[in-house]
Amino acid sequence: MAAEGRVLSVASEAVPLIKTGGLADVAGALPEALAPEGWDMRVMMPAYPGLLAKLGLAEEVWAAPDLFGGPARVMKGRAGEVTFLLLDAPHLYDRRGGPYSEGGHDYADNPERFAALSWAAAEVARNGAADGWKPEILHAHDWQAGLAPAYLRYGPQTGVKTVLTIHNIAFQGIAAPYKLGVLRLPGWAFSAEQIEYYGNISTLKAGLVTADAITTVSPTYAEELMRPEFGMGLQGVIAARARDLHGILNGVDEGVWSPESDPNATPYSSKDLKAKAENRVALAAEFGLTPGEGPLAIVVSRLTDQKGIDLLVAVLSDFIEAGGSLAVLGSGDPVLEAAMRRAADRWPGRVGVRIGYDEALSHRMFAGGDAVLVPSRFEPCGLTQMYGLRYGTLPVVAATGGLNDTVIGATPASLSGKAATGITFHPVDAGGLAGALRRLTELYADRALWTQMVRRAMKAEVGWAEPAARYAALYRSLMT
Ligand code: ADP
Ligand code: GLC
Repeated sequence: MAAEGRVLSVASEAVPLIKTGGLADVAGALPEALAPEGWDMRVMMPAYPGLLAKLGLAEEVWAAPDLFGGPARVMKGRAGEVTFLLLDAPHLYDRRGGPYSEGGHDYADNPERFAALSWAAAEVARNGAADGWKPEILHAHDWQAGLAPAYLRYGPQTGVKTVLTIHNIAFQGIAAPYKLGVLRLPGWAFSAEQIEYYGNISTLKAGLVTADAITTVSPTYAEELMRPEFGMGLQGVIAARARDLHGILNGVDEGVWSPESDPNATPYSSKDLKAKAENRVALAAEFGLTPGEGPLAIVVSRLTDQKGIDLLVAVLSDFIEAGGSLAVLGSGDPVLEAAMRRAADRWPGRVGVRIGYDEALSHRMFAGGDAVLVPSRFEPCGLTQMYGLRYGTLPVVAATGGLNDTVIGATPASLSGKAATGITFHPVDAGGLAGALRRLTELYADRALWTQMVRRAMKAEVGWAEPAARYAALYRSLMT
């Protein structure tokens, strides 16, 4: 093992143990993709309730009598193909709600909860785990791990190199300034050059200023982050580190997302699309839909402002009147959930909505849908448009972030050049989306052209091979 190097990846969620969004997919899939290339990867994550039991045989590799208010230990074990280091600290993680919140309210001690994760990771990186494992690289994901590079930078120097990946700049890890000492940060670090951010502490900023390298999850988002419209206040900090910033697209776990072998649906391939039509019939039945002549569109998404769900609600009626139908799976903002439910009431048989989270149903939707709608106002990478490509469920996406980097929008030029794999729109507003849905309906009506696009989309490269090679190259460049 360890022909290439050892990497401690630090994240607040990772498949197969726990997932609320794409971060978990990436945090779980990247080690899986790098391990066969000779990288010795471990993922450190909180031991939320029930997770230790999923590890099977676990071994204690680190302990502290007082980690931010109580005893803690790190248990090493495997889940799926991933080696986890679970931080067991009941005073921080034994909560009834989700990883970050309960009943829509963030836990008040989130700064401490994720400072503890970062602290334990930095300690394992600095001194090695009890089984003798010591990483060359610490790879921190998002604000929850942002303090890990800072603890390494502000403490005794170690030679451990650090990478911070921004999955979503909207979440910045804000803590009140009086928590500086509680979070074990030196007083001098509370400055505009370090971790101070509009009078508060930002753990994401801490990572941005102290990590050796910064990555984000698409080349377009890397550019966008340096602009005020997308940087959300951190654009200057990021622009100052432009030389160390890398946009590396996420991949799709093709072991889980492949229409040729998906156990949730009748298999099909780009060469033989017959079963996709069967999956469509089954999907319509499952959502109580009797589709018209037009396309059956799907949405699988957190229902939030970021995802532009309100735009879809605003322009839905034209799409339905033009013969389209819609199946929605998601949860999130109660206002958007209610709006979706109203749409289902208004167009029975044409709009079906499931509020909730359902992995298997999401697979059946990609297998049976004609198009997947992703009208995000911003989208660092996005995974569902890539599932859409893989399943020939053509993505209709806002031209932003990773959506812009993964979908080739249908234009007269891209169609005649046989390159188009979906529909892109800009500006990201109701008018833009309405236009995109009109184009969807038109393209779908030209069945020969549509089928060509479906076949082409299914061949687009969306796996982890290339992204993993890019991360490997980055790790190597830091180790030399
Ligand atoms: P984000 O992380 O911003 O939510 P991504 O597109 O990167 O967006 O990742 C979202 C992930 O969560 C995808 O794997 C998607 O299929 C999944 N997902 C989102 N909502 C649901 C849901 N209601 N049921 C099942 N899977 C969902
Ligand atoms: C974030 C982003 C999403 C990205 C995911 C994984 O949740 O919103 O665009 O795909 O992280 O990187």
